Amino acid sequence: AAAEKGGFESFMDKEIHDQPQAVADTLRGRTDADGRIVLDDLRIDEAVLRSVDKIIVIACGTAAYAGHVAKYAIEHWCRIPVEVELAHEFRYRDPIVDAQTLVVAISQSGETMDTLMAVRHAREQGAKVLAVVNTNGSTIPRESDAVLYTHAGPEIAVASTKAFLAQITAAYVLGLYLAQLRGNKFPDEIATTLDELRDMARKVQTVIERGEYVRATARSMKDADKVLFLGRHVGYPVAMEGALKLKELAYIHAEGFAAGELKHGPIALIDDGQPVFVVVPSPRGRDQLHSKVVSNIQEIRARGARTLVIAEDGDDDVRPYADEIFWIPKAPTLLQPLLAVVPLQIFAMALATAKGLDVDQPRNLAKSVTVE
Ligand code: G6P
Repeated sequence: AAAEKGGFESFMDKEIHDQPQAVADTLRGRTDADGRIVLDDLRIDEAVLRSVDKIIVIACGTAAYAGHVAKYAIEHWCRIPVEVELAHEFRYRDPIVDAQTLVVAISQSGETMDTLMAVRHAREQGAKVLAVVNTNGSTIPRESDAVLYTHAGPEIAVASTKAFLAQITAAYVLGLYLAQLRGNKFPDEIATTLDELRDMARKVQTVIERGEYVRATARSMKDADKVLFLGRHVGYPVAMEGALKLKELAYIHAEGFAAGELKHGPIALIDDGQPVFVVVPSPRGRDQLHSKVVSNIQEIRARGARTLVIAEDGDDDVRPYADEIFWIPKAPTLLQPLLAVVPLQIFAMALATAKGLDVDQPRNLAKSVTVE
């Protein structure tokens, strides 16, 4: 097993380090020199994809957070309504799907029973199902109309890391492809985004290289008993995933919130010294996202929170309100989840390690949940 871990302490540590490769491999062969997406391996009729009027993403666990990121990206680029739903909720609520609905099932293993049952249900209702799956020849792609494989390689640690980055990458590829196919009004934006996407693997590597500061912070927080995570827009699913990693690996009560929801409840949880991670969007976006999140940091800081901020290089606005800053390279906000989640993964792993826990096999969890 030591050899399989490639010199790393755990599979999780190795898989976190595999992430730049997972992103690059999931993109490889799917773009051409003219800045277009090529999806020859997608066995679904282009006419079907052109006529789709609604997308529903179904998944469980970490894969569902990749689905949330997909929603922001696909709706923005393609102007198709996208819903995201946990597969087990979708399956048992009589959802409205028909032949114009594209159901996207995201799963690392391709064997999650809840997701499989939702796939079957969607197809029975006449929907087309596109599987975004990491494991070749697994059940979900076999039972779907089409498959877009993620190329993260085998993921051994129970809690998902590199499969998540690969799923998000695949979601961007799918979104850009649909935009291209359906004649997005801004072809330049698609080409620019694709260029940015091609550069993301290198930036993920940079975040990993900056990991020691995150690990040191985690070691100093090994007695924390609750940690909160805030994000807006695509930072929201990143916050949720950060909280999930901490629950799974370190058995710490952790919750992710939409930053805008703070004043509607969660802010009551803030007292002196409460650690709160905040994912800050790019300050270069042409929207108010960044300033809204900076205000949220001020609000919690004023109530005593210890703020652990994930911010883009050069974002000086956050400095006055941040107790710790984990810097990530510049990237468009829509693509930022690939970078922003990495410090959160490293944090959860390092904190669990500091507590003496087995990060590859957390208690009570299974890699693939093959029962409903
Ligand atoms: C289990 C794993 C999670 C994973 C989820 C969905 O709960 O512990 O890490 O996110 O299943 O698995 P899937 O294989 O469908 O992505």
